[in-house]
Amino acid sequence: MKTTPFHSPRGCLSYLVLDSISKEAAIIDPSEEIADEVYLSALVEHDATLCYVIETHTHADHISSASKIARETGARIVRHKSAPSPHKDIAVAGGERLPLGASELEIIATPGHTNESISIYADGAVFTGDTLLIGGTGRTDFQVGSSIALYDSLHTALVSLPDSTIVYPAHDYKGRTASTLGAERASNPRFLLQRDEFIETLDAHHPQKPELFDAAIAANSL
Ligand SMILES: [Fe+2]
Repeated sequence: MKTTPFHSPRGCLSYLVLDSISKEAAIIDPSEEIADEVYLSALVEHDATLCYVIETHTHADHISSASKIARETGARIVRHKSAPSPHKDIAVAGGERLPLGASELEIIATPGHTNESISIYADGAVFTGDTLLIGGTGRTDFQVGSSIALYDSLHTALVSLPDSTIVYPAHDYKGRTASTLGAERASNPRFLLQRDEFIETLDAHHPQKPELFDAAIAANSL
């Protein structure tokens, strides 16, 4: 499995995941901040057939291009069954295994940042959305977020994945695209907090709303 990251100027990350043998592919969290042609050219370059467009959650800070990419390619949109958008070709809840050539993508329910956040495990890598960022986590103070659920997602839902698992988050503001679960477990300040401290810290964490919040939620819920 080969992973190609796409980094938007505002720190949003999306990924092309390719099964190198069958050339079947998935795109995770495509954003309008990256031109559709960039994704489409990457598919052509790899001679890939796009099977899935997967949203890790309903993004509040950028407008998703999942519907456009799916329309252009015939790929199926995968979202959590509780995602507000009715456009779900495949509605998941966690535990599903989506075939990708000879490989598969495993959907893991990781609520907390939002109630409909999922992570995707594929061949030694996990795409964590805003559940786990490099050196941080997503916020939990809107979109039916829950700091208790986020703690349990980090420490229970992902617990069976080994330290060597590569972590691909949905955001990074320092230009990084990957870490490992071992590195995050050892040094991510949020990961190191005890349960009570974690809940207290996240419950008190109310950063400014993203600039595009209203427009992004409205567009991404269509
Ligand atoms: Fe988010």
